[in-house]
Amino acid sequence: MRQSPLFTPLDVGSMTLSNRITVPPMCQYQAKDGKPSTWHLVHYGKLAGSGASLVCIESVGVAKEGRITIGCLGLWDDEQVEPFAEVIRTMRAINPDIKVMVQLNHSGRKGSHDVQWVGKLLSPQEGGWVVKSASPISAGGAYPVPEMMSKADIDTVVEAYAKAAARAQAAGVDSIQLHAAHGYLVHQFLSPISNQRDDEYGGSLENRMRMPLRVFEAMKKAAPDVVLGVRVSATDWIEGGWNEADTIAFVNALKPLGCEFVDVSTGGLAEHQAVPVAYGYQLKFARQIKDACGLTTFGVGLIKDARQAESAIVEGSCDAVGIGRQMLLDPHWGWRAALELGVDVEFPPSYKRGMHL
Ligand SMILES: Cc1cc2nc3c(=O)[nH]c(=O)nc-3n(C[C@H](O)[C@H](O)[C@H](O)COP(=O)(O)O)c2cc1C
Repeated sequence: MRQSPLFTPLDVGSMTLSNRITVPPMCQYQAKDGKPSTWHLVHYGKLAGSGASLVCIESVGVAKEGRITIGCLGLWDDEQVEPFAEVIRTMRAINPDIKVMVQLNHSGRKGSHDVQWVGKLLSPQEGGWVVKSASPISAGGAYPVPEMMSKADIDTVVEAYAKAAARAQAAGVDSIQLHAAHGYLVHQFLSPISNQRDDEYGGSLENRMRMPLRVFEAMKKAAPDVVLGVRVSATDWIEGGWNEADTIAFVNALKPLGCEFVDVSTGGLAEHQAVPVAYGYQLKFARQIKDACGLTTFGVGLIKDARQAESAIVEGSCDAVGIGRQMLLDPHWGWRAALELGVDVEFPPSYKRGMHL
């Protein structure tokens, strides 16, 4: 039996992961009024038993109008806490060692859609809502031009993040990830392409980071017992957009506010991005940010097999990998990786007989 760095424990703040395999947030579009459904119970229960040490529950809207689609999860109401707690209890019943993270998000100008496989923008008459953002600039294509958020709107959103973080903590999560990536509201404030305000929330990098830093600070205050971190898009893949240097400045500004990890993704801000998608295409950014910021770093993006995942850790690109679509295809990816790498791990007792063909 060999040892693999992929199967060594990792401390992330006060949380210890049993290995370096994680499941990144992936929207399911199966919620009703923001509440998890039977789909979520089975889906997340299944992923809790995947061999990953941590599962991040998909994008959760901090406000009704902060959802991406009408099928997205939400934590804008106290009534939503118990259905989330039920999902988390189910995950821990399947795997007592699993660490549960939730991603808190506000969609801003990319909201008000029907579920992803329908895709259509919904008007308020059809159950959608008027979208708002840092500036009245569309994300391109069929995306609408949002209304510009007032300072009072910004205060309301900061408060919504804080309350949703408190609800996530009450539901029993180990960790919360602020979604500052993929062109949603926080990213819309960060990027000079989507934020062209001339008040204290726009212009300089310091001003563009003001709303995101306020959000993070409010979340930390509201949910002091969970491990708090951030998902970033390290680049917009657009000339003149948000880039690696900006990301490093942002992550360094989050550190004194209690940020304990960074999950490095890219893109999603606007339709005219040019993304060179290939194996590990985001790992060089993860490495850059890990080296510059010294925070626990998650790498993600087209990491498909066990050897690639192991290499990402051995080469020092990241401290843990996110395995997204491969986990949807093969929800025992983690166990399969252990077998492929010849690593001796403790399989779930009910499955043990199936692991030795
Ligand atoms: C079905 C699906 C839903 C996704 N939903 C989210 C989401 O809610 N939040 C997020 O930050 N990224 C989301 N992503 C991106 C993934 O977290 C991940 O970064 C991406 O799929 C790249 O990793 P992979 O190549 O291992 O799939 C989603 C991806 C997929 C395939």
